[in-house]
Order: sequence, then C-alpha cells, then structure tokens
Amino acid sequence: MYRLRPFEPADAPALTAMLHRAYAELGGRGLNFTAVDQTERTTLKRAGTGASWLLVDGSRIAASLTMTLPPHETLRRLSPTAAAPGRAWLNQMAVDPADRGQGLASRLWAVGRRWAGDAGASHLGVDTAEPAAHLVELYTAWGFARRETVQWPGKTYRSAVMERPCG
Ligand SMILES: CC(C)(COP(=O)(O)OP(=O)(O)OC[C@H]1O[C@@H](n2cnc3c(N)ncnc32)[C@H](O)[C@@H]1OP(=O)(O)O)[C@@H](O)C(=O)NCCC(=O)NCCS
Repeated sequence: MYRLRPFEPADAPALTAMLHRAYAELGGRGLNFTAVDQTERTTLKRAGTGASWLLVDGSRIAASLTMTLPPHETLRRLSPTAAAPGRAWLNQMAVDPADRGQGLASRLWAVGRRWAGDAGASHLGVDTAEPAAHLVELYTAWGFARRETVQWPGKTYRSAVMERPCG
C-alpha cells in the first residue's frame, strides 16, 4: 500500500539513494542523467524547486516526481518551448526498480498534472535523452509531442524536448 506525500528536506538522503538505483540502468548505457550520481545537495535543490511528491511504502521511498514552474533557467535558454509562457516541467521522475510496473509513475504524473493546472500552467513539458527510445515512447503515450532537440551542457546525449497541453 503506497502513500502519497510531499517531499521534505529530510528526505534528501533516501531520495538520492533511490534516484541512483532508479537511474543506474540509464547510466550503464552511457546516458549521464544528473540523477545517476547527483549529490544530496543537488537532490535538495532540484526537489525544492517547484513541487515534489513521493510515494512511500511505510518509510521507504518507492517513487518520486517534481514539477517545476517555470522550467529550469538553463533549459529556458536552450529551448524555445520551455521559454514560452505558462510552461510547467516534469523532472526527476523515478520509480525504485523493486516497485516498477504497478502504475506508480502514472499516479504521480496525475498528481503533477493537476498541480500544474491549478498553478496556472497552460502546457506541460519534459525533456529526456533522445537515445532512450522507451522514455520518448512513454511520454508520447502520455500525450506529449516532440518539439525540438537540445544539448544540455556536460551531457553525453542530446535531449528530446516534448510538450502537451495541460489538463
Ligand atoms: C520511467 C519509470 C519512472 C516508469 O516507472 P513504472 O513503474 O514503469 O511506471 P508505471 O507502472 O506507472 O508505468 C507508466 C506508464 O508507462 C507505460 N510504459 C512503460 N514502459 C513503456 C514503454 N516502453 N513504452 C510506452 N509506454 C510504456 C506503462 O504502460 C504506463 O502506462 P499508463 O500511464 O497508461 O498506465 C521507471 O522505469 C524509472 O524510474 N526509470 C528510470 C528513471 C527514468 O527513466 N526517469 C525518467 C527520466 S526522463
């Protein structure tokens, strides 16, 4: 039985460890997503910007998602889609490998989408590694369409920027 709750700063160590587990496979493919090896400080900074939720099983963190409004400043410089007014951004989505395939990401996505609508966003965006075809497919299934490709500084891959209307 998973319980939804907001992220709190005291969650940073456990969330960081879960993110490392969740992103290890992508890291193993040479895709150096920030969450592959981010520090607790970075977790705190990323989760503390916008709104973040966790699904917990007892005290254990099973899944996380952050919505940022407006999107990260660097991304707004790189992407006209992210720079457009009214954009909320999906970040740091992860499900612990032990908890996959049970709809936890979909559940958090529904919460984030509602939050963004209530906060006045007209569109939702996400960016992900272009070579991670399964993620591009997942976001396409969630109604996102590809807009452009950007190069985040320091990343080994180019990122597909995707967007959909809010609601
Ligand atoms: C991506 C991730 C969060 C999905 O977790 P999950 O436990 O499979 O999530 P869910 O069970 O809620 O499934 C999410 C949806 O994706 C769909 N899905 C899963 N794999 C898919 C694929 N390859 N193509 C299309 N849809 C897919 C599921 O059917 C489900 O659809 P629904 O919303 O209609 O029910 C998880 O695999 C993960 O943590 N990966 C590593 C981190 C990561 O990639 N984060 C995103 C970076 S941009």
